[in-house]
Amino acid sequence: MTTLEFRNVTKRYKVRGAGDMLALDDVSFSLESGQTIALVGQSGSGKSTIAKILTQLERATTGEVLLDGKPIPHRGPGLRRYRQRVRMVFQDPFASLNPYHTIRHHLERPLRLDKVVPKDQVESEVMALLERVRLDPSATVDRRPHELSGGQRQRVAIARALASRPELLIADEPVSMLDVSIRLGVLNLLADLQRESNLGVLYITHDLATARHFSDRIMVLHHGVVVERGDADGVILDPQHEYTRALRDASPDPDRHFAGPAGTASLRS
Ligand SMILES: Nc1ncnc2c1ncn2[C@@H]1O[C@H](COP(=O)(O)OP(=O)(O)O)[C@@H](O)[C@H]1O
Ligand SMILES: [Mg+2]
Repeated sequence: MTTLEFRNVTKRYKVRGAGDMLALDDVSFSLESGQTIALVGQSGSGKSTIAKILTQLERATTGEVLLDGKPIPHRGPGLRRYRQRVRMVFQDPFASLNPYHTIRHHLERPLRLDKVVPKDQVESEVMALLERVRLDPSATVDRRPHELSGGQRQRVAIARALASRPELLIADEPVSMLDVSIRLGVLNLLADLQRESNLGVLYITHDLATARHFSDRIMVLHHGVVVERGDADGVILDPQHEYTRALRDASPDPDRHFAGPAGTASLRS
């Protein structure tokens, strides 16, 4: 069991000519392997700041991030090893893949750098990764990102994140840049992978409807403060905070939005 803990984290950004900007105010939570937590909030609420601190692209101003009870390393081989265990999937699959490199290159790189498998197994591991994200390996492996659709690209980004065999995955709005029609397929894939590999997933979204269907727990972030948290159904069906109610009322009913006319199918089906 792996536990990642965010303890009393505050983040201030220095803004030129405008003093400090308080992006996170005393945020605490923990994420365990096998668990999916949704972090929900509107644009500017501080979601990506949490993701960046978790992956050490940003440093907390005060507070701590602990992996299995130990402060996470800020640099060097310790940070490398940490990033192998805790991987990030970014919002924009166009920006996160290098247009000059093939899909094979993108997947081989972490396999080689992190020495995940012996050299003579790298090729077969690349193909297995593509299969895991439900892409046709031989039709995909020698292409470059621009030859794929947005959804296929995000699947490659997910395969790359899985290459290092992480224990935890931080997915920062993984489908918000994709066409509405293919979002569900990518989310279902993430849910399947989570179960297959007992991954812990922090699913970051502004959409309460998908949050409920893909997570055990929901945390609601408003202006850098966690205003509500609890099991997913409880937060949606009986929100305690005014802001959560406003988010819910602004969000389409998941059953109406995603399911068939009977309105009974779940997103996982
Ligand atoms: N590098 C930065 N410098 C200054 N302010 C920033 C920086 N990154 C984010 N912010 C500000 O911090 C707040 C939270 O941003 P962010 O974490 O990106 O929110 P979200 O992902 O929920 O949209 C916003 O007001 C944003 O403008
Ligand atoms: Mg963001």
